[in-house]
Amino acid sequence: MTASSLSFKLAVLFVIAGMAMGIGMAASQDHSIMPAHAHLNLLGWVSLFLFGIYYERRPALDASRLALVQVIVWSVGTVILTIAVAALHLGYTAFDPVAAIASLIVLAAMVLFAYFVFRPARGIASSPTARLTPAE
Ligand code: HEM
Repeated sequence: MTASSLSFKLAVLFVIAGMAMGIGMAASQDHSIMPAHAHLNLLGWVSLFLFGIYYERRPALDASRLALVQVIVWSVGTVILTIAVAALHLGYTAFDPVAAIASLIVLAAMVLFAYFVFRPARGIASSPTARLTPAE
């Protein structure tokens, strides 16, 4: 499986879970886990989907094992962080170190992504606009 394909699949699963969480908060009128909902949607849906778009436009990177590792590490970190943030906001203070470790996991995944962005570009998919020639 490519990194983009895994990103898109996991992102859709995360947003379904995030939306269900939002509906649960709205229905119960208890917004105490709102930060967990926000993190799940923004890390799990928005960021992961953006990673997928980036990878899909770079086929060589998309097919690499390292990009797949980045998506998996990010996703595992997102799940742990969401659970830990929810638990903290429900009063389970013992989850503080879990949240701290999870935050370092997602940071590590973002640093790996930054490495992909800053290293010299290889295999970027050409878009139709790249083939346009000036009128004169
Ligand atoms: C069925 C879909 C959704 C429902 C029912 C829902 C519901 C909610 C509720 C009830 C809150 C708490 C508001 C408050 O206490 O002030 C909230 C907050 C939030 N939601 Fe959602 N949500 C949904 C989808 C999403 C999605 C897709 C995203 C992101 C892409 C998102 C991002 C956020 C953020 C960032 C906050 C925090 C806002 C703040 O700090 O005031 N939500 N949502």
